[in-house]
Amino acid sequence: MTRHFLRDDDVTPAEQAEILQLALELKRDRFAQKPLAGPQTVAVIFDKSSTRTRVSFAVGIADLGGSPLIISTASSQLGGKETPSDTARVLERMVSAIVWRTYGQAGLTEMAAGTTVPVINALSDDFHPCQLLADLLTIQEKRGTLAGLTLTFLGDGACNMAQSYLLAGATAGMHVRIASPEGYTPSEQVVADAAAIAEQTGGSVALFTDPVQAVSGSDVVVTDTWVSMGKEEEKAARVAELGAYRVDSALMAQAAPDALFMHCLPADRGYEVTAEVIDGPQSIIWDEAENRLHAQKALMVWLLAQNAA
Ligand code: CP
Ligand code: NVA
Repeated sequence: MTRHFLRDDDVTPAEQAEILQLALELKRDRFAQKPLAGPQTVAVIFDKSSTRTRVSFAVGIADLGGSPLIISTASSQLGGKETPSDTARVLERMVSAIVWRTYGQAGLTEMAAGTTVPVINALSDDFHPCQLLADLLTIQEKRGTLAGLTLTFLGDGACNMAQSYLLAGATAGMHVRIASPEGYTPSEQVVADAAAIAEQTGGSVALFTDPVQAVSGSDVVVTDTWVSMGKEEEKAARVAELGAYRVDSALMAQAAPDALFMHCLPADRGYEVTAEVIDGPQSIIWDEAENRLHAQKALMVWLLAQNAA
């Protein structure tokens, strides 16, 4: 069975730790491993816009000795005339892995079921697991550990980032809190899945409506855009309903004194976070962005090795 990375819980706690350790090694010696030498090609497909994901995969694949093939869905048959499964069956004859940023999680599942090469979720409406590997790597670098830390996400708790924090944070043994208003809570199934993982790892998951209570004593404070890709028409309503969850200096002051602030970017300063916080001394957003490169390289090295075994 081919291993894929479609959700954060597609890896076990031990495997997640292994990938993060490998990422640290690759960060120290960037060109040490060339599993894609040949060069082998990796297809990186985008149904949605991207800066960090596009650049970090293209550079990472090249670092590993491979050749990135960046495909925009708008100029391909995928999503129009052709199903994910048929596209995958063609690509697997020519590429070593498929990375896909899309809308519905179901498309990724269909693509993965129809192919022998690993499929990596580069963001869907439900999850952003590559970003989480980078975020966990960054927290681990700053704090030396992940297990036992409390991380609070504020804002749109139903978005991909919040749901990935639940699964990946629980896998890492963290205490994950989500603070959001009614109508913006994570999927009950994802919360249940994360809670089951947390039971094994010693972590926990908790949902809050009060942002101050949620952030109290937290080691890491996180937010994301209130208007995820595909939700643009809801912007006015979202800004009105999520205003109380803006991360500002007063809210940061409720967290631990040395709390870190993170944001996957792109950010809307003045909406989900004030400039004072995101550009302030507690913010680690640039290290977080850089770590997309190292974390995804480790993921690709690990996944290719799993599937070669
Ligand atoms: N954080 C993130 O995935 O950024 P991009 O949308 O620019 O890829
Ligand atoms: N939640 C955001 C993340 C962007 C990287 C979105 O889906 O647009």
